Amino acid sequence: MRAHVLKKYGKTNAVLAFDEHQDPALGPDEVRIDVEAVALNPVDIKTREGEPKMLLPFAPPFVLGSDLAGKVVEVGSGVTSLRVGDPVYAYTGMDRMGAFSEHVVLPADRVARRPGALSAEDAACLPLPGLCALSALDAGNVDKASRVLVHGGVGGVGGIAVQLASQRGAEVFATVGTSDIERARSLGVGHPIDYRAQRFEDVAREMDFVFDTVGGDTLKRSWRVVKRGGVVASLHVPPPADALVVAGLRAPWFLRLLLPLITRGPCAAAAKAGARLVPILSVPSAAGLERLTREAESPGLRVTVDKVFPFEALGAAFEHMQSGNAKGRVVLKRG
Ligand SMILES: NC(=O)c1ccc[n+]([C@@H]2O[C@H](COP(=O)([O-])OP(=O)(O)OC[C@H]3O[C@@H](n4cnc5c(N)ncnc54)[C@H](OP(=O)(O)O)[C@@H]3O)[C@@H](O)[C@H]2O)c1
Repeated sequence: MRAHVLKKYGKTNAVLAFDEHQDPALGPDEVRIDVEAVALNPVDIKTREGEPKMLLPFAPPFVLGSDLAGKVVEVGSGVTSLRVGDPVYAYTGMDRMGAFSEHVVLPADRVARRPGALSAEDAACLPLPGLCALSALDAGNVDKASRVLVHGGVGGVGGIAVQLASQRGAEVFATVGTSDIERARSLGVGHPIDYRAQRFEDVAREMDFVFDTVGGDTLKRSWRVVKRGGVVASLHVPPPADALVVAGLRAPWFLRLLLPLITRGPCAAAAKAGARLVPILSVPSAAGLERLTREAESPGLRVTVDKVFPFEALGAAFEHMQSGNAKGRVVLKRG
């Protein structure tokens, strides 16, 4: 089989090769998937550049990629949840990265039947962003009484989060770019805020739940708008070392020393605001994907695919993503 192999970490696509790669062996609790489409996430570029390298339990060369849709072609002897021929989707998990490949082997408890209404290209865009959005909203107990602010409200993660929050009946505020106001409304955002023209603090106050997909100054300013007893969930605050280990990642001693220093500022801000800070780490889960499948089938979840590239064209797809012109997910599809 052919796969997009990262030969070494680097800033350019010269470190990638679309090469023959050994088909992985199948364990008793695993399934083999014939990949139809994969979606690119920001973490794929960060991984190419080596940003999470101290967390990964492997080093280059390895196959990149996290989000995929395909068909089951083989099941291990202990698998009862899936059958050969099932159309499925999955987030591989950082510890089993390797979606940008013609065939992928994954534990069955990371794979679920994909929503019937979605094409393989659309379904591939859901797993990582959708699982993050679900765990954030669950952490905030978001329901119809909640006032919710999502930063980056039409992004990959934010766009799913606003739809799920709106389906739960919450009053949804979201920060988005100037040209994305109408798109945000169409996803269920009652109060879109143009982050380039307006300070969100002037519009969103006394929030029960803030979902920070942006980080930096946006997270720092969020403590002013969350109410006492509320929750701020962030994709940009690292979780405790033990949570990294549970997710199959490494937590070397120097990281264990550093983590309390890195999180000291946000933890102090949360205490001062009388709110709870929840770091969100994407964790693969078939049960989570089954929930997303139900939501996507009724009442429905929309993903925005910006451009579909041939499966071979990962370099061009990364360039398009990094150009800043992509309005939605970038996808590779097998011919
Ligand atoms: N911790 C985890 O497990 C985890 C999981 C998933 C993602 N992440 C990280 O979370 C981030 C978001 O991921 P994504 O997939 O949603 O990315 P994405 O699809 O690129 O979306 C990012 C969105 O944020 C918007 N944005 C940029 N600056 C903003 C600001 N100052 N205020 C409000 N919105 C702003 C962008 O709008 P414009 O188009 O106007 O720039 C874009 O719509 C990435 O850094 C990713 O690596 C972490």
